[in-house]
Amino acid sequence: MIRAIYPGSFDPIHNGHVDIIRRASKLFDELTVAVLNNPYKQNKWFDSEERLELIQSVIQDLPNVKAEIFEGLLVNYARDKGVQVILKSLRNVGDFEYEASMAHMNQHMFEGAETSFLLTRPEWSYLSSTRVKEIVSYGVDVSDLLPEASLQALKKKFA
Ligand code: PNS
Repeated sequence: MIRAIYPGSFDPIHNGHVDIIRRASKLFDELTVAVLNNPYKQNKWFDSEERLELIQSVIQDLPNVKAEIFEGLLVNYARDKGVQVILKSLRNVGDFEYEASMAHMNQHMFEGAETSFLLTRPEWSYLSSTRVKEIVSYGVDVSDLLPEASLQALKKKFA
C-alpha cells in the first residue's frame, strides 16, 4: 500500500496540476493533494478553503485521490499521515534546483518519506498559478489553462 502526498499552494489549481494528479493517481494506492495554509503569508488570491474546494471539484472521478489542508512543516504532516512518498512536479531545471534543495532539507529532517518527481508534460511546462494570475489581471483569456472550477472562481473575483 503506497500512500503519497502532492503538496503545493494551488492558488488556484491549473491544468498542469490536474495532469500530475491524474497521472499520479495511477501510480499510488492513495494520493492526497495537500494544500498549504500559511497564516503568515496572506498574499494568496484564494484562501485555503477556496483552494481546497477547487481541487475537490477536479478529483471527483478519482476514487483514490483526496485533498486536505495542511499547516506548518511538510515533513511533520507527512510523518503524521504515514506516507511513503512526497510527490513534486518538475517543469524545468529551475524547478529542479529549487525542488532538489527542498527535497534534501526534507530528507535531512525526516528520512521516512522519499521525495519523488514527475515531469510536467511539455504543453504545461510554462504554466504556473503566478503567471496565470498575472495575465488574467490584464484581461487575457485563460480558459485553455485552467479547469472549469478555477476559471469560474477567477471570473467571480473579477466580476
Ligand atoms: O506550490 P508551491 O508554492 O511551490 O508549494 C510549496 C510547498 C507548499 C510544497 C512548500 O512551500 C512547503 O512544503 N511548505 C511547507 C513548509 C515547509 O515544510 N518548509 C520547509 C521546506 S524545506
